[in-house]
Amino acid sequence: MYNNIVDIYNRYPVEVSHAQGIYLYTSTGNKILDFSSGISVVSLGHNNQELNSALIQQTNKIWYSSNVVHNSIQNRVADLLTKHTFADNVFFCSSGLEANEAAIKFARKYGMQNDQRYEIISFDNSFHGRSMACISASGLGHVKKDYPPLLPGFKVIPVNDFELLSRTITNNTVAIMVEAIQSEGGINVIETEFLYRIYQICQEKDILLILDEVQTGFCRTGTLFIYEQFNIIPDIITIAKAMGNGFPVGGCLVNKKIANLLSPGCHGSTYGGNQLAMSVTAKVLEIMLRDSFLINVNNMSKILHKRLLSIRNHHPKFIKNIKGLGMLLGIEFTDTVKITSLLDILLLECNLLLTKTAHPNTIRITPSLIINASHIDEFAISLEKGINIYQNRM
Ligand SMILES: Cc1ncc(COP(=O)(O)O)c(C=O)c1O
Repeated sequence: MYNNIVDIYNRYPVEVSHAQGIYLYTSTGNKILDFSSGISVVSLGHNNQELNSALIQQTNKIWYSSNVVHNSIQNRVADLLTKHTFADNVFFCSSGLEANEAAIKFARKYGMQNDQRYEIISFDNSFHGRSMACISASGLGHVKKDYPPLLPGFKVIPVNDFELLSRTITNNTVAIMVEAIQSEGGINVIETEFLYRIYQICQEKDILLILDEVQTGFCRTGTLFIYEQFNIIPDIITIAKAMGNGFPVGGCLVNKKIANLLSPGCHGSTYGGNQLAMSVTAKVLEIMLRDSFLINVNNMSKILHKRLLSIRNHHPKFIKNIKGLGMLLGIEFTDTVKITSLLDILLLECNLLLTKTAHPNTIRITPSLIINASHIDEFAISLEKGINIYQNRM
């Protein structure tokens, strides 16, 4: 089907011609309920008129000037992000891996100026993107196995084992890089105590805490950023995905310790902070910071979670566990379930789009954050229908 495209994606056999809100419309006339939202990207829904207007208005002024001149939209976005987080400064780029790559470089730079430290500790099953540095930090075997030699200076250890972490820290350790929910890894929520102890040891030993919020950020889990729920203050958080609702944009939020190190020439990104991306992000933030936005996210998350638990109760031999926080949720099926067949049935026979994780038995539930209770009803009915079809065919 794709003779001339590098064959690196498993694609469903459908083409989406247009989309509205949380629905996708295929070129063959099907209407699909999108409970994946491009894997936590399209959090404000498809064809969002406010975002469209912001982008079109900006399109008619200027797309891109490069960072050789001032850009007041960047300032506006940075002001909003720093006002509503721990951060003092923001670096803009265009994707999650670029954000993590920058975080790794900032950490290395910090280490060079503080006792020549360079080691970064990260965790099994984590995913931080697909550059050489990011796969070196990632803990998912399949993303790194074909690319030796990986970058030196990374230690990847099991998560939630504080004694092991303490033993792994050396005089060379400069940063710990972690996801509060391993999304690709299977929607594994980190233990609260473990993340808090990481934060404490980072403070004690002047180690940087890098929190990868590429998926958890922008209200996905019920707060603007997930660190707010863990009573910690990171040194760097990395952001992307929902930041542009599908427009490519990313960034690092950093505290003064990092910001003071950075000067012209030490890092950069051609497209970072371009006017089009910034106009979309400014509007994304404006919408998400409205009073009612997070209230709706939290109300709908509760309803969704309850509904998933009741579906699990209907299928105890089939569904093991409901995982996650807010609207970054996962259904862990029992070992005998063939997830890819179930996902095909859900899409092709029940018109429900969901995605799998790298965990062999976990499906990810990441709807747009603008869903209402009737969307959740529709989702639950389609999911049960798909599970029943699958079970009857077994
Ligand atoms: C937690 C996390 N970090 C980083 C990335 C990489 O982001 P990107 O694909 O935009 O490079 C992803 C992508 O799924 C992610 O989930």
